[in-house]
Amino acid sequence: MAGVRAAVQAMRPYVPGKPVEDVQRELGLTDLVKLNQNENPLGPSPRAVEAVRAALARAHTYPEGSARALRERLGRLWDLPADWFLVGNGSDEVFRLLAEVFLEPGDPIVVPGTSFSAYRFVGELMGAEVVEVPLAGWTMDLPAMAEAAARHGARLLFLCRPNNPTGAVFPEADLRRAMARIPASTLVVLDEAYREFDTTPFDSRSLLLDHPNLVVTRTFSKIYGMAGLRLGYGIMRPEVLAPLYTARDPFSVNGLAVAAGLAALDDVEHLQRTQALTREGRAYLYAAFERLGLPYVASEANFVLFDAGRPAAEVFDRLLRRGVLVRPCGSFGLPTHLRVTVGTPEENARFVAALEAVLRGG
Ligand SMILES: Cc1ncc(COP(=O)(O)O)c(C=O)c1O
Repeated sequence: MAGVRAAVQAMRPYVPGKPVEDVQRELGLTDLVKLNQNENPLGPSPRAVEAVRAALARAHTYPEGSARALRERLGRLWDLPADWFLVGNGSDEVFRLLAEVFLEPGDPIVVPGTSFSAYRFVGELMGAEVVEVPLAGWTMDLPAMAEAAARHGARLLFLCRPNNPTGAVFPEADLRRAMARIPASTLVVLDEAYREFDTTPFDSRSLLLDHPNLVVTRTFSKIYGMAGLRLGYGIMRPEVLAPLYTARDPFSVNGLAVAAGLAALDDVEHLQRTQALTREGRAYLYAAFERLGLPYVASEANFVLFDAGRPAAEVFDRLLRRGVLVRPCGSFGLPTHLRVTVGTPEENARFVAALEAVLRGG
């Protein structure tokens, strides 16, 4: 097609997994266990569902564009001013805005290898030069990333903690050391999509206060169980936020999502129930992997990466035939690894039983 920007022509389109409905129909499956996208198996908070119902009556009116009520609520939660918060249509929108606002074609950005694909995607969309730094072990190689940012004069540097798909984390002290070496002109984006599952000490707020070139992102898609509503946010200094605000679609965040987000933040019980379910589910999965002799990565998130020791695509297919959907990690550069979301105890048991059968050659 003529006229397409060179940056877009150079991109390969994202190929999403087959819709669950298609898979179910093709394989004649009646109940599929969906453990492939790190969603909350408990669903959204009942309070969020109720809030959406109530907000539907106002669906004929435009939402308040800046999601002021949610920004003020988040400001109280974080003990930071409301004007440090940019609410987005998922944290994906915040990543895209950062790229659209800060990247000229050819600008360098630094991303971790074996991590969430959106960082590379938004960089490529703007024609940036993407410098990928391989992981050290299962988490970011912070010294190497800092060095790459300094050497290339990176505009953006993306970090994922806990990392998707490994679930691993780095200590706060390591990031502080790296921040001292990253140029002040590099904006560091710390994606904390899974932070609420993480039990290690890590103070993002104090990092934000200490480093004007830091942006932290969070989402309602994971622990809050609202992936389908599309709600996330970025926290940053007002001077970083202002140009993003200028460039954004004024009504990108819908009123139902904001209402749900406000209610979800009030339901601490639902959050804690999800944390407990995840903790117990991870322990159950670890025990199963140990029994099966499969190496796995200790996770601070709601998923576990394991090495099946054989082509992951095959294991994926065979699990699917048994009604269990997981994520093969070939696209992350891990051809024998799979990532499984922690589900309910029943879902976890179905996954383990299916995996045992697949490994036995069934
Ligand atoms: C590391 C990471 N960041 C961000 C997201 C996307 O979040 P959102 O649904 O808020 O766009 C995901 C979703 O899978 C993720 O794994």
